[in-house]
Amino acid sequence: MNLETLNETAKALVAEGKGILAADESTGTIKKRFDSIGVESTEDTRRDYRELLFRADGAEDFVSGVILYDETLRQDAADGTPLRELLSSKGIIPGIKVDMGAKPLALAEGETITEGLDGLRERLTEYAELGARFAKWRATYSIGAELPSEYCVWTNAHALARYAALCQEADIVPIVEPEVLQDGEHSLEESAKATGRVLEAVYTELHDQRVELRGTLLKPNMVLSGYSASGRAGVDEVAAATLEVFYRHVPAAVPGIVFLSGGQTDEDATAHLNAMNALGPHPWQLSFSYGRALQAPALKAWQGKPENVAAAQAAYLHRAKLNGAARTGSYTAEMESAVAA
Ligand code: 13P
Repeated sequence: MNLETLNETAKALVAEGKGILAADESTGTIKKRFDSIGVESTEDTRRDYRELLFRADGAEDFVSGVILYDETLRQDAADGTPLRELLSSKGIIPGIKVDMGAKPLALAEGETITEGLDGLRERLTEYAELGARFAKWRATYSIGAELPSEYCVWTNAHALARYAALCQEADIVPIVEPEVLQDGEHSLEESAKATGRVLEAVYTELHDQRVELRGTLLKPNMVLSGYSASGRAGVDEVAAATLEVFYRHVPAAVPGIVFLSGGQTDEDATAHLNAMNALGPHPWQLSFSYGRALQAPALKAWQGKPENVAAAQAAYLHRAKLNGAARTGSYTAEMESAVAA
């Protein structure tokens, strides 16, 4: 393991004003996204869509890295340039999703365990050869009367740490992603409690499995009232509750916390990040690793039509720019209505 390389990569991914684009939807998930705009998901349409995002001029000012799915890391643009090289030629770091998905956890109704450790060392070696410099592994937890269970919290923490240690051996920065799902009617306090328990277990396992925190990034949920809760917490409350949990549970050695959007609206995801950064400086960089919150307007503008590529790129760039502003607490709601550049 080369800790200096890992630390440099981690810091580059959370460089000032920049964050990560999560474009690592599995084949099943991208199909759902395409279904929403009536586009068939084929190898070519997936390539066309991701190529338009990666070619968007100026996105590199706000996007430090892109998380890819296995297919995309190996795929070529329409003109034959490998997509990963398209990214690196703009100074954007290619990353790779390496988990095999969240599967039902045995004897634990309603809970999941993320799979994908078997053969991971070999896959990481190949991914490194293909140019991936960071990776992602996502664990999910639900909030309920008795959930998440200690069983689910600790088995997923153990797997996240095993993944992280293997990544570091391969000089790949592990993005550790424990996502406490924010569906349901839970309160802000319940979200804070579940998120705190999950983080405590994750950092215990990372420590016990000798993972060097300086060569990692954390990709968590924000602390929110459940999406179906009444009287949901506003932006300032969310920012304060989220910061309180992370101050308590995330060591300062971690270079950055890159939030997922997790089904928030684009505007909420940006406003929440902005509010947290406006309360800074913090021990870690607070950034984004958004999937839906960066891509939704672009997907809608694209509709699978070549004549819409420029409009889709403008929509993506606009969102990237606003999230870039949220990195320094300089985003305002008025910027939303500015004509997509
Ligand atoms: P969302 O921002 O759409 O939640 O996606 C981020 C991600 O990578 C989830 O694993």
